[in-house]
Amino acid sequence: MIQSSFLLNLVLLFFLESVTEQSNTGRILADILKQHEEEPKSRIDLLDEYDFIIIGAGTAGCTLANRLTEIPEWKVLLVEAGGRENFVMDIPLLASFIQFTSANWKYKTVPSNTSCLGLQNAQCNHPRGKVMGGSSTLNYMIYTRGHPKDYDAWAALGNNGWSYREVLPYFLKSEDMTIPKLAENKKFHSTGGYLTISHPPYRTPLAEAFVESGLETGQNIVDYNTDTMIGFSFLQNTLKNGTRWSSSRAFLHPVRMRTNLHVTKMSTATKILIHPQTKEATSVQFTRGNKRHVIRARKEIIVSSGAINSPQLLMLSGVGPRQHLESLGIKTIQDLAVGYNLMDHIALGGLIFTVNQSVSLKTSSILNDPSNALNYFSYHKGPLSVPGGCEALAFYDLKDPTNPHGYPNIELLFEGGSIVSEHTLRKGFGITRDLYNAVYKPIEKRDTWMVLPMLMRPKSKGRVMLRDRNPFHKPLINPNYFQYDEDLETMVGGVKKTIELSKTKGFQKFGTKLHDIPIPACKKHVFGSDDYWRCAIRHLTFTIYHLSGTCKMGPKWDSSAVVDPRLRVYGIKGLRVVDVSVIPEIPVGHTNGPTFMIAEKAADLIKQDWGVTINNYSDELN
Ligand SMILES: Cc1cc2nc3c(=O)[nH]c(=O)nc-3n(C[C@H](O)[C@H](O)[C@H](O)COP(=O)(O)OP(=O)(O)OC[C@H]3O[C@@H](n4cnc5c(N)ncnc54)[C@H](O)[C@@H]3O)c2cc1C
Ligand SMILES: *[C@@H]1O[C@H](CO)[C@@H](O)[C@H](O)[C@H]1NC(C)=O
Ligand SMILES: *[C@@H]1O[C@H](CO)[C@@H](O)[C@H](O)[C@H]1NC(C)=O
Ligand SMILES: *[C@@H]1O[C@H](CO)[C@@H](O)[C@H](O)[C@H]1NC(C)=O
Ligand SMILES: *[C@@H]1O[C@H](CO)[C@@H](O)[C@H](O)[C@H]1NC(C)=O
Repeated sequence: MIQSSFLLNLVLLFFLESVTEQSNTGRILADILKQHEEEPKSRIDLLDEYDFIIIGAGTAGCTLANRLTEIPEWKVLLVEAGGRENFVMDIPLLASFIQFTSANWKYKTVPSNTSCLGLQNAQCNHPRGKVMGGSSTLNYMIYTRGHPKDYDAWAALGNNGWSYREVLPYFLKSEDMTIPKLAENKKFHSTGGYLTISHPPYRTPLAEAFVESGLETGQNIVDYNTDTMIGFSFLQNTLKNGTRWSSSRAFLHPVRMRTNLHVTKMSTATKILIHPQTKEATSVQFTRGNKRHVIRARKEIIVSSGAINSPQLLMLSGVGPRQHLESLGIKTIQDLAVGYNLMDHIALGGLIFTVNQSVSLKTSSILNDPSNALNYFSYHKGPLSVPGGCEALAFYDLKDPTNPHGYPNIELLFEGGSIVSEHTLRKGFGITRDLYNAVYKPIEKRDTWMVLPMLMRPKSKGRVMLRDRNPFHKPLINPNYFQYDEDLETMVGGVKKTIELSKTKGFQKFGTKLHDIPIPACKKHVFGSDDYWRCAIRHLTFTIYHLSGTCKMGPKWDSSAVVDPRLRVYGIKGLRVVDVSVIPEIPVGHTNGPTFMIAEKAADLIKQDWGVTINNYSDELN
């Protein structure tokens, strides 16, 4: 196992170091141990009542917990199903490893006959964080915000206050941009916030070739976190000094001394208690160890449990589609379209190119060379600092290809390695052994790079449903990928664009060649034809993990809305949803940045609704 050889190496390294003169092992070990000492502790003794109870310490929950406890007289309880974060989770290159631990909810889609066909049992795996920081502790740390048109479209749907002009200040509020050239652009970036954004301190020559290939084909290099996204860029990451900057590290660690914030970990909320007549949400019921707790909220209960668990918890509590709830014997308190509007960004996995020099990220050789671990733990540098091997991206508007101000419908996400150099990817996505052995095993020893051509504005929408009434059973997830052919066609366009880039001089100096062993089930089509790519996309359908939209925000005339534009659940008093599930239409790019923004804005909405003057409390750390 890669993992065990890595740990073995670490131990060896510390041993070797401790017998040499220039030993700094002690310091390194102390650093490692200290890193998560600053995480707030789980409270044993909880109060019977809090002003606010936040369910879920993920991207949104940690941000909100910080902002609400800025008000000293507000007592806040943060309830998290998972446990603490640890130093292995900080190591960017090992992002995908965390999926194999108990820090992952390990969801799967229902078997499909139109997508995920090359994955075990035709099911896509959907990891979600079950740990302090939530999915921001499992993610690939790519920081994008989306396009102004995304938010202007939210506002046009009737969501007052959510236009680009109105949400931009909330992106800036969190931000600590440490890339000097980008930080100069004060209209779009700020410094000094909790959320540090940086480039990894290491880059492969292949990533440089990717960005050059953009220039060579007439594209621009852009800062995609402005109002112009079309073009190429190295990644901006939620990364600080080469380590993961999860929402917990960013927003909770600095405020751990606040006495009005209580955190309870390993605590799974099973129900929100809502008075059936007054329709007031009064308490949260959760299980910690084998003990059941019921704790009252004086002001509000805020569900921040993510795109799968937020709708699940609402439905278990009687808020959801009447027919569905009644079929399971759950009494409906409020009939709402909970669980609908499920969106995601998907890509073709396995679009791989071989090169003739050792310039790629090969995880096992990186881990087997102790100098990489030493470099990482001493300076947070070297190949271990690259989040999941992803290094650069390009945004294209294939419908309006010459417009530099276009609205992306494709993202090409570049990796300086691939599923053959990183075995956890095969397992993480669940590629069947037969497919893998036939197509990819023959190039396992080679240096490779890969692009994930990602669909940006999917038309297809899916649904999350309860399996049964047991809160510990996983819900049913049907993403409905390729409900619309247009989604498939756009992705084929992204594949062809990638192949075009591979032919540029920058890539050809490494002898880049498209890996052309066909997927057995697609052999009936000529390799490289549109039909072949359609078949490949249906087989190696990779989620880029952006599940969203299942507690949709909308105005009161929108019957598909679950929360209003102030994120209050329709028909219920004292209950909000604040997380990725309120998204009405998925923004382009990635969803972590938008979720931070949603939580920042929600904190102000909540403060306003309780009569607090906004921005009256400083950001000062205790
Ligand atoms: C593997 C992976 C890679 C990703 N890569 C990127 C990326 O590079 N860039 C990007 O922008 N986005 C990425 N994403 C997506 C992004 O991380 C998520 O969109 C974002 O974190 C969602 O935030 P959230 O607050 O809505 O939910 P989450 O961060 O998932 O938080 C929900 C929290 O609620 C807790 N919870 C759930 N149910 C309960 C319950 N019943 N009781 C108590 N607690 C509960 C969970 O344990 C979790 O901690 C990735 C996601 C994954 C999984
Ligand atoms: C695919 O599955 C659906 C139901 O899930 C079924 O109605 C349809 O006939 C199936 N299509 C094929 C081609 O098997
Ligand atoms: C980055 O981390 C390394 C290793 O812990 C440390 O030596 C260095 O001082 C840190 N740099 C900054 C700027 O904090
Ligand atoms: C790799 O391929 C390129 C292009 O064919 C060639 O110029 C170069 O010499 C090759 N390098 C090696 C190390 O084989
Ligand atoms: C800030 O709040 C205090 C009370 O907590 C109030 O006296 C003061 O006027 C407020 N300041 C502003 C600028 O709103």
